[in-house]
Amino acid sequence: MAISINDRLTKAISFIDNCGTLADIGSDHGYSSIYAIQKGIAKKVIATDISKPSLAKTEKLVNEYDLSQCIECRAGDGMKVLATGEVDAALIAGMGAELIAQIIRDSHQIASAIPQLILQPMNSAQPLRRALSEMGYGITHEGIVVDNDKFYQIIKCSYGNPKPLSDDEAELGTFVYNERIPLCKEYVEHIIRKQEKIMEYVGNNDADKLRETAGKIERYRRVLEWINAQ
Ligand SMILES: C[S@@+](CC[C@H](N)C(=O)[O-])C[C@H]1O[C@@H](n2cnc3c(N)ncnc32)[C@H](O)[C@@H]1O
Repeated sequence: MAISINDRLTKAISFIDNCGTLADIGSDHGYSSIYAIQKGIAKKVIATDISKPSLAKTEKLVNEYDLSQCIECRAGDGMKVLATGEVDAALIAGMGAELIAQIIRDSHQIASAIPQLILQPMNSAQPLRRALSEMGYGITHEGIVVDNDKFYQIIKCSYGNPKPLSDDEAELGTFVYNERIPLCKEYVEHIIRKQEKIMEYVGNNDADKLRETAGKIERYRRVLEWINAQ
């Protein structure tokens, strides 16, 4: 039976080039691992989770789908349960941007040897982009997906060729002034609306915050103008 997964994970997994072994870091329910095997995206998956009860969910699903010959489950922190060069791609989805950055930072040798890292933070991707750039990773592709009325960003990267990022690129995505990726207009409009709400909320109570937010809105509107002109 084909597994059905949400749009967020479907989009994130679509960023993975077909590969031999995929690491699904923080596999939890295990949907991504099963889906990647069923779709032929990976021949083998190493599903890992720091939480044994979470990994038990993956193990249960793997058994239900009779895929234990191609999905191996390992309990542990981030990439520490992998050996250098063991996987061809890693998916780290559904975690905070700071935690994703920490997982990569904690396993520099292992992470830097993985040809494709697909990262899907649940909150603002800004700290992750900044951390990737500082750690020497180059962002090769970015994606945006809407799932249940929420926007999510997807970052594909690999070690080498890091680019210094402008504030716009770090906050919105490296697509700005570069590529009109699907949903970028809707995403930037959404972020502008968010900042406008912050301005309303702050009111006249915090002049510094008001100035900072107004500056962001101005920058984001310039990005939107560029997108609309493409
Ligand atoms: C919200 S779930 C996301 C599950 C799935 N990846 C997704 O995107 O739907 C986050 C999972 O990451 C696991 N996790 C948190 N920190 C981790 C770490 N340092 N290493 C491995 N797994 C971790 C949690 O135990 C949890 O199962």
